[in-house]
Parts: sequence; structure tokens; C-alpha cells
Amino acid sequence: MSYITIHNHSSVKEEITMKYYESHEDCYRIMKKNNVSSWDEFKEESDSFENFFMKEYLVIVLDRIKPISNARVLDVGCGTGPVSCFLAQQGYNVDGIDVSQTAIEIARINAKDRGLDIHYSVDDICSISITGSDIYDIIIDTHCMHCITYDSDRYAALTNIFRLLKKGGYFIMETMSIEDPSKWPHDGRIDEQGIVWYEVKENYPYYKVKYEDKYWICTRRIMSPSDLENELKEIGYSIEHLKIIKDEKLNMADFQAICRKPKSD
Ligand SMILES: C[S@@+](CC[C@H](N)C(=O)[O-])C[C@H]1O[C@@H](n2cnc3c(N)ncnc32)[C@H](O)[C@@H]1O
Repeated sequence: MSYITIHNHSSVKEEITMKYYESHEDCYRIMKKNNVSSWDEFKEESDSFENFFMKEYLVIVLDRIKPISNARVLDVGCGTGPVSCFLAQQGYNVDGIDVSQTAIEIARINAKDRGLDIHYSVDDICSISITGSDIYDIIIDTHCMHCITYDSDRYAALTNIFRLLKKGGYFIMETMSIEDPSKWPHDGRIDEQGIVWYEVKENYPYYKVKYEDKYWICTRRIMSPSDLENELKEIGYSIEHLKIIKDEKLNMADFQAICRKPKSD
């Protein structure tokens, strides 16, 4: 497969109204209309709100790090809140953020239906409105980071997470990974950096770039396990536990990391 070198081309700035990672909003509107309760259900990766994709890993993580009973947790990219609800049911004090207004609307209903007190807000982890530092015992990337494609946005997101974590706090990450992007097995076209691009119509309302007289949007950043590890270390996280689950058939891997903000500066 030949790489696409799209990121070198100029963006159609005059038409930008919304950021590329805000495009999930369209899916959540469809989900709301069709009464679909979660992202995983929408993608047919789960049969119910309770059986979310990350659950198995999360159970292992919680058993390993043994948080204090009323730990403050931030769910980054919480969507309709399957992970937030699960954590609140364990007794943790949960906040959830997502850039999608509709996702947060559904998340509030899902929490209310279950009698859970979760603080949800529409917010962008790349420019989060929560000020201050050392607030959360645990911050979880619930499959949000792979939606943030550009280095500068990823740096902003990971730096904000680092700031918001208490000293000694945990950042839990599970994300898609690929050793060799030229072997990308799914739809779309990938570039050398592991950014996955899809062709869209000219009137697509989110950030897009023009390349070969066509319009393209970036949807995913699929990095190699070593690049992901380096990215985290450069921000200052120490990686306490790392598991890379390889899918040889697809040439992909699931990158699972338990990271920690150092206890002292
Ligand atoms: C793959 S979905 C997962 C949703 C949810 N965590 C779940 O498990 O059902 C990724 C989510 O990240 C959100 N997202 C993407 N970029 C974001 C950003 N910069 N800040 C906050 N949320 C973001 C999307 O709106 C979307 O809801």
C-alpha cells in the first residue's frame, strides 16, 4: 500500500468552522435518533451499555492500582458515559468530559436513569476549561486519544491531563497501535505519521484539507507502541505497566498503559 502524504498539503482554512475531532457529534445525533446507548453499540462492538469494550482492561487496572474508595476520576472523551457509570457504580467520584454536546446530553440521561451522580461537561481536552492542577487521582483515556491526530493537539491534551493529575496519580490509556502503518488494514488512507484520512465532500463542515483536488479529513492517529511510549515519557509520565496485545492477522495492536505522574517534582 502506498502512503498518502496529505498532511503536507495546505488546509482549506477559509472553510473551517469546527475542529476535526468534533465530528463525532454527527454520530451522536444519529445515536440519539435511533436510541443507541453507547459508542461501542453504535460501532457494533458491544451488545449493551454495560458491556463496554474497555471493561475487561479497566477491571484489571483497578485491581492493580487499588484506588482509594472515593478517588476522583476524570473520564476523557466519555461519550454517553459507559465508563463513567461503571466507575461511579464502584463508588468513585467521577467527572466526564466530551467535545460532543449530544454525547453529554445522552450521558446525563444514562446517569440519571441509573441513579448515579456524575458531573458531565462539554469540554475539549486540548484546551480544557478546568483550571488548577493536582485535582484527580485517576484520569482515563476512554478511546479519545486516538481521535486526536496532530502532534500539537496531542501534546496539549497529554499536558493538560498531566497538570490535572495529583502527584502520584494515574493516567490510564488504551489505544490502537500499529508497528508498520503501510499495513493499515482498514478503510481510509494512512500517512507516514499514522494519520488516517477519509475523503469527504466539499461542503463537509469540519476541518479538512485539499489534496489532489479532493477533500480529506483526519480521523485517527495510529502510532507504533514505541512512539506512544516515547510520547508519554516526554510529557513526564512514568509508565508503570505496559501491555501490547498484538493482532497478527490485522497487523494491529492494542496499547494498554498505566502511567503515573511522579510523586515529587
Ligand atoms: C471512540 S469515542 C469513545 C466514547 C466513550 N469513551 C465510550 O467508550 O463510549 C471517542 C470520544 O472522544 C471524544 N473526543 C474526541 N476528541 C475530543 C477532545 N479533544 N476532547 C474531549 N473529547 C473528545 C469524541 O467526541 C468521542 O465521544
